[in-house]
Amino acid sequence: MIDVQGVSRRFDLNRSMGDILKGRYPTVDAVSDVSLSLRRGEAVGIVGESGCGKSTLGRILVKLIPPSGGHVVFDGEPIAGMDRKRELAFRRRAQLVFQNPFDALNAHFTIRRSLYEPLHNAKIPVEEHEERVAEAIRMVHLPTAEHILDSYPHQLSGGQLQRIVLARALVLRPEFIVADEPVSMLDVSVRAGILNVFRQIQRDMGLAAVFISHDLALVRYVCERTITMYLGTVVEDGPTSDVIANPLHPYTRALVAAVPVPNVDQSHDPLPIKGGIPDARNPPSGCRFRDRCPLAEARCASERPVLREVRAAHKVACHFVD
Ligand SMILES: Nc1ncnc2c1ncn2[C@@H]1O[C@H](COP(=O)(O)OP(=O)(O)OP(=O)(O)O)[C@@H](O)[C@H]1O
Ligand SMILES: [Mg+2]
Repeated sequence: MIDVQGVSRRFDLNRSMGDILKGRYPTVDAVSDVSLSLRRGEAVGIVGESGCGKSTLGRILVKLIPPSGGHVVFDGEPIAGMDRKRELAFRRRAQLVFQNPFDALNAHFTIRRSLYEPLHNAKIPVEEHEERVAEAIRMVHLPTAEHILDSYPHQLSGGQLQRIVLARALVLRPEFIVADEPVSMLDVSVRAGILNVFRQIQRDMGLAAVFISHDLALVRYVCERTITMYLGTVVEDGPTSDVIANPLHPYTRALVAAVPVPNVDQSHDPLPIKGGIPDARNPPSGCRFRDRCPLAEARCASERPVLREVRAAHKVACHFVD
């Protein structure tokens, strides 16, 4: 349903005094030559440390920002260069759920207004609005909905707000949803409830879903497939159970080692690999993971490993895994 072909995204950074004196224009390749595809009804998790490009990729998928290179094809049609009518249809079919519910909702709007607004924007016939809002509220399991609808965001709990944000995406009956760290701002005690709702809706509606998290334990809970990103590149892509039981890439191995028990309320150990994430403005040549990698050899500096299938439906980008 979604086909991502060699997508990259470069950002210009603010120039420091040193950059100006030396005539430099610093950039960062937040996403670098990423390819992946997603079937209808499939839930894929994207994991990786802060700054590896997860949110940038998610925003490209729902056309909030354009890629600087490559293509995204949605249901057979490139999402770039759509005419107005196709664009409006795409905006209904693909939805993003933000990390911070306070950013996603207008503080001056009642919840009711926030839920009806996307229906107006998407030009859904008015006679359908009430039913769609009621349906979305049912799906996210919000009791006492009447009271909640007349509230303002600051009057609700974080868990209630995140359910509203999800409902706001669902009123459009999307077919594809990107959830960017949907529970990271929430207290651990309410996380499992939201994850359950998310998982149930994804299955019931047959949504294609991308679930972004730095936390492999959450992804394992929601997604049948897992993709690992490192510094803008995809290093592994496979069935979640295989990726966790038999991680192929040295970086995924480290991530898995840091998640000792399948518990979404657990805090994790630091990653068992040397060093920190390199400066994204000046990433290592060849394999971007090489300066932290226990397997690295000279070849890794000159040749970027391509993502290739080495087990059934399980791909890895490493010269030394077969
Ligand atoms: N608008 C922007 N302008 C400049 N640089 C950006 C912009 N957005 C992202 N970046 C840079 O791109 C890289 C990837 O950022 P991104 O937000 O996609 O990472 P992430 O994996 O979502 O991280 P996190 O887990 O912290 O949310 C980072 O180096 C970030 O600083
Ligand atoms: Mg992010």
